[in-house]
Amino acid sequence: MTGTFLSFEGIDGSGKSTQARLLAEDLRTRGYTVTLTREPGGSAGAEEIRRLVLEGEADRWSTETELLLFTAARRDHLEKTIRPALARGEVVISDRFADSTRIYQGLTRGDLRSTVDQLHALMIGTEPDLTFLIDIDPALGLSRAVARAGAEQRFEGMGLGLQEKARAGFLALAAAHPARFRVISGDAAPEAVAARVTAAALAPLK
Ligand code: TYD
Repeated sequence: MTGTFLSFEGIDGSGKSTQARLLAEDLRTRGYTVTLTREPGGSAGAEEIRRLVLEGEADRWSTETELLLFTAARRDHLEKTIRPALARGEVVISDRFADSTRIYQGLTRGDLRSTVDQLHALMIGTEPDLTFLIDIDPALGLSRAVARAGAEQRFEGMGLGLQEKARAGFLALAAAHPARFRVISGDAAPEAVAARVTAAALAPLK
């Protein structure tokens, strides 16, 4: 693996998808070849799984089944998109990766953290070089997420309490892995947040 693997994480409505896109554009103007991708999804098979897991009734899947679907999607994403791009020496930017499973299936939507960790070790075994946690006030995130709700409604029932729990969980993960995480406050204009992200991203790319 010669490329660099970056991920963005954050609660719903944190603005991480915008930041992932802005970083990809910025790095391209600096001459890097960037693969911008997302989870769940990021490969043809994983995008099919995305529809299964994000659309439909809330009780369509148990948390265990959901964990298996997210992990299957991630494995395909890794095989078909992430590893080939890293092998070509590219910068891979993924909008969410395994930390999302640790938080959502491990902590807020389920209580499966040790199973999540075991399955990750068995089937994924890869961590990003750097993870940007876009940190915002949960009430703000929730209002943004509700305002743009579309077809992917399965998870939109999350109330403020769960958003707060997810934020605390992400911050705890970041504190446990300080070498990998960069916590960036998302409570500013997108361009200002992007400037902070770029400064942190350029260090390991040099
Ligand atoms: P995403 O498309 O990033 O939506 P948003 O832009 O609203 O954050 O993710 C969709 C949902 O999937 C989101 O609520 C988080 C959830 N999710 C998990 O529960 N587990 C996972 O492993 C991943 C990658 C996402």
